[in-house]
Amino acid sequence: MTEEIYLTGITTTGTPHIGNYVGAIRPGIAASKDQSKKNFYFLADYHALAKAEDPDRIHQSTLEIAASWLALGLDTDNAVFYRQSDIQEIPHLTWILTSMTAKGLMNRAHSYKAVVQANEEKGNKDPDQGIMMALYSYPILMAADILMFRSTKVPVGRDQKQHVEMTRDIAQRFNHHYGDILVLPEAVIDDNTATLSGLDGRKMSKSYNNTIPLFAEEKKLRKLIMKIKTNSLEPGEPKDPEGSTLYEIYKAFATEDEVREIEKRYADGIAWGEMKQVLFEYINEHIKPAREEYNRLINDPGIVEQALQHGAERARAISAPYLKEILHALGIRKLG
Ligand code: TRP
Repeated sequence: MTEEIYLTGITTTGTPHIGNYVGAIRPGIAASKDQSKKNFYFLADYHALAKAEDPDRIHQSTLEIAASWLALGLDTDNAVFYRQSDIQEIPHLTWILTSMTAKGLMNRAHSYKAVVQANEEKGNKDPDQGIMMALYSYPILMAADILMFRSTKVPVGRDQKQHVEMTRDIAQRFNHHYGDILVLPEAVIDDNTATLSGLDGRKMSKSYNNTIPLFAEEKKLRKLIMKIKTNSLEPGEPKDPEGSTLYEIYKAFATEDEVREIEKRYADGIAWGEMKQVLFEYINEHIKPAREEYNRLINDPGIVEQALQHGAERARAISAPYLKEILHALGIRKLG
């Protein structure tokens, strides 16, 4: 049996929040230590361009995301950790794939269609208003990320599943014409990964502006947790853990015994203010050692850069010869 190759991409927009931590970072870090698998993790900074972010934000976000994963113990000896833009073969492969991706396939991308629909709803005459090719071709860049390292498994959220399927379509078409060169990946969707609610009770998300940054300083963390929405039950009144954001977040961090203990306190009518304090103290203790390391890295970004360069070297040892092989198959090779 061939070895499974896992590949995880993280777009460099935004500051990691506790929802990212529970849903993606924590399981990703655990997986990075698994010696039985090959694991690739990368910072998708070219993808960030499709979101038209401010340059300073992209730069800062790249540092914050890389520092977060490193501070939390990503195993960079076992896993390969790199920045997309350091691997020149990726944009190179993107162009190759672009020449064998049907335009009709891209027309069907949910991510593109959602913007077209929004334009239509706004009554815009041009359904493509404001849409850059980077958004339209986003799935091709993603296909290059995946195919470049012969990935067999791609852990993604439901919203990205279609992109992995498109990668298969593109790879299949390539292989049909040029021989069995690209490896068809599969999306891995974990329905058990927790999604957390944010301050206002909606899903924690940068776009709702309701997040708790993973490495917020103690004071800020406390302040944000105090803002989490609750219902109006008084101290002493029994409370239902289901539907309580405080409980949900606590549960994502605490052990089973601790969760059972808190459920008892809910039944006994714990005051919301007290539950907020419990949650703050718990998360703060849990995060503290990694936060110290995170702050050290943020203040000394050269260390982070070095880790990324080390990863890029390892990644390019794979991508450079593979790209040559691909170009050769396409007839792009030396004449004599
Ligand atoms: N598009 C993914 C997201 O928004 C990030 C990403 C870029 C990615 N390239 C990838 C994920 C390759 C998996 C594989 O979440």
